[in-house]
Parts: sequence; structure tokens; C-alpha cells
Amino acid sequence: MPKLRIHTGNKEQGMTDGSGIDEESNSKGRRDSGGLSKIVGGYQPGDLIAERYEVIKLLGKGGMGMVYLVQDTKRERRIALKTLLPQYATNQRAVGRFVREVNAVRQLDHPGIVKILAARQHESLLFYTMEYLEGKTVREYMKKRGRLGLGSTVRILSLLCNALEHVHAVTVHRDISPENIMLLADGTIKLLDFGLAKLQDPTGAQFTQVGTTLGRIQYNAPEQAFNAADVDQRADLYSIGVICYEMLTAKVPRAYEPITDIRPDLPKEVNTFLKKALARDPAERFATAAEFRDALNRVYKIHTGEIQPDAGSDESLGFFARILALFRRKATVKPQHVSDDDF
Ligand SMILES: Nc1ncnc2c1ncn2[C@@H]1O[C@H](COP(=O)(O)OP(=O)(O)OP(=O)(O)O)[C@@H](O)[C@H]1O
Ligand SMILES: [Mg+2]
Repeated sequence: MPKLRIHTGNKEQGMTDGSGIDEESNSKGRRDSGGLSKIVGGYQPGDLIAERYEVIKLLGKGGMGMVYLVQDTKRERRIALKTLLPQYATNQRAVGRFVREVNAVRQLDHPGIVKILAARQHESLLFYTMEYLEGKTVREYMKKRGRLGLGSTVRILSLLCNALEHVHAVTVHRDISPENIMLLADGTIKLLDFGLAKLQDPTGAQFTQVGTTLGRIQYNAPEQAFNAADVDQRADLYSIGVICYEMLTAKVPRAYEPITDIRPDLPKEVNTFLKKALARDPAERFATAAEFRDALNRVYKIHTGEIQPDAGSDESLGFFARILALFRRKATVKPQHVSDDDF
């Protein structure tokens, strides 16, 4: 495991009390909208948060907070701002979860992971700012498109696996769901919402069950229900297995049914792939995000005819079988383009 790294380069970031959140003193509040009643009802466009961030619109709403698109009046830029609702300001679990989210994201630095700019406490409001992501969530994308082609599915999940490889060097996300992955206009992805990430606390003990039941249950690995504190990266890999199934069929797997019953256009190898991805026993799943991505890409290559399904690894074949496999590979007509409606 690499050493945990804390960003220090950003002037906006403060680590005053070790929590990762800057505390601010009470302020004049010219047309500031820090009042409790306002926050409970949510901010309106034009409201000023912490005397600096002017609300443009609401981007998303969760169980414990809200995410707004705001104009940073000091820097003249548009960013996203996530709040913890003040009714949770004295709730240790909720605050712990919020702080953990800030700390988890600050340890990560990858193009596939959202970047935090600042974390503050202003009066009763706990919030952090982050880069604004112009795009849609995987949930919105799936709603609009229905079943996705194998090409789109493999492309999105491969990018997600790249981000997860980085995440897994320091933590486990534990809340991977279509709502927490954004697709950007340039075709890239960003992983969000690290509120349930598993982190080591400074004393070496691990955060335990805090908030772990808040994850979306249909994406959670079976072991998360029993011992959420102890799960490892294979729990995240289970979640992306569920997302893979859902992308291809527009429904989440209940009792596992072979996907080719629903999508006969897909190669049968996708059944074997998903069976492994969705194994109840973590030991039977893919062990790493890279393994998951490589296996998925292999399925895609079989689909496009780039490799033969039953050729196996060349090393395991005899001489004549290798020649035969080579011949069959050459004889395959490779489609010019897989007609797959991407972003
Ligand atoms: N940086 C961002 N740029 C654009 N939209 C964002 C950004 N962050 C979040 N969103 C939108 O807001 C929604 C909610 O964000 P997020 O998942 O972080 O919070 P949440 O699910 O409410 O959090 P929690 O699970 O901690 O209650 C996302 O699904 C997405 O639509
Ligand atoms: Mg979320």
C-alpha cells in the first residue's frame, strides 16, 4: 500500500483542526444566506453562501446534503458546492461521513476522480467546493438510452476501472452506483461521492459501520450487509458488475439469469464474465480493477471478432492448435466499426 498523501498545494484548502474542514468565524452577512431556515429549505438561485459563492442552480440532492452549481465571486469561476444539511451538523455520524468524504478525495489524484477545492464550516453550514462537472450521471444516461451497446458499456467501465485502480491503492469506495459516476461531454468519466469510503483514522482504527447502510443496496456486495467495515476492493468490483449487467439489460440482476437470454446479440462469454463479477464469494470474483477491465475487454474483442472465443491462451495450446487458432484469427472478418451509440 502506498503512503497516504495529503494535498497541500491549494491555497483554499485548510486543515486547521485536523478534520480537513476550515472553520470560519461569524460574519457580517450582507446578503448572505446562511440562516438556518434558508438552508433547511435549500438555497435559491442568487443566494450567497459563505459570502462568496452565488447559487446558480441545484445540481443534485442526497440524503444528507445538496450539491449546487455556484459562481465563486472571488475567483470568477463556476464550481460545485456540496453542503451537509444543518440538521445534521450535530449528528456525529453525518459529520464524520462528510469529513471522511473530504479526506478521502484529498488523498486521490486521478483524472477519473472529482477534485475537491476547499472544505469549510461557515456558521452552522458544513460544505466543500469541487470542480464543476458538465455532463450527466450514468443513471441519467441509462434512463435516456435504455440498454447500452457492449462498446459503450466496456468503454465507460474501463475508464471506471482505471479510476478504481487508483482508489484501491488507498481506500475502498463502498458506494459505487450509477448516481455516483458522471459522464462528461468529452467522453471521460468522474467518480464522485466518497462519503462511505473506508479510511484509516489517525489512531489506526478503522471507521466502522458509520453510514454504511446508506449505500444503494442493490449495488452493494453481499458481504457489505454483514461486515461493511471489513470489505475490500472486491466489494467495489461487485458493484461495477451490477452496473455492467444493468447497462446491458436496463435492469439490475435479481437471481442471476444468463444475460444472453435477454441479450442474445451478446457473446456467451459475457455470461461467464458476469458470473465471476457477481459471485457471492469475494474469492471467486475478479481480484483487481485491472483484472476486471482486462476480462471485459477480452469479451469485447470476442464480440468484434478480434480474438476467438475458444482459442484460450496460446501458451496452453499445443503446436497444431496454435497454428489453427492463428489461421482462424486471420480468417475472421473484423468489422470496421462497431455500431454503438456512444455519448
Ligand atoms: N462536481 C459536480 N459537478 C456536477 N454535478 C455534481 C457534482 N457533484 C455532484 N453532482 C450531482 O449531484 C448529485 C449528488 O452528489 P453526491 O453523489 O456527491 O451526493 P449525495 O449522493 O447527495 O451524497 P450523499 O450520498 O453523501 O448523501 C450527483 O449524483 C450529481 O448529479
Ligand atoms: Mg451520491
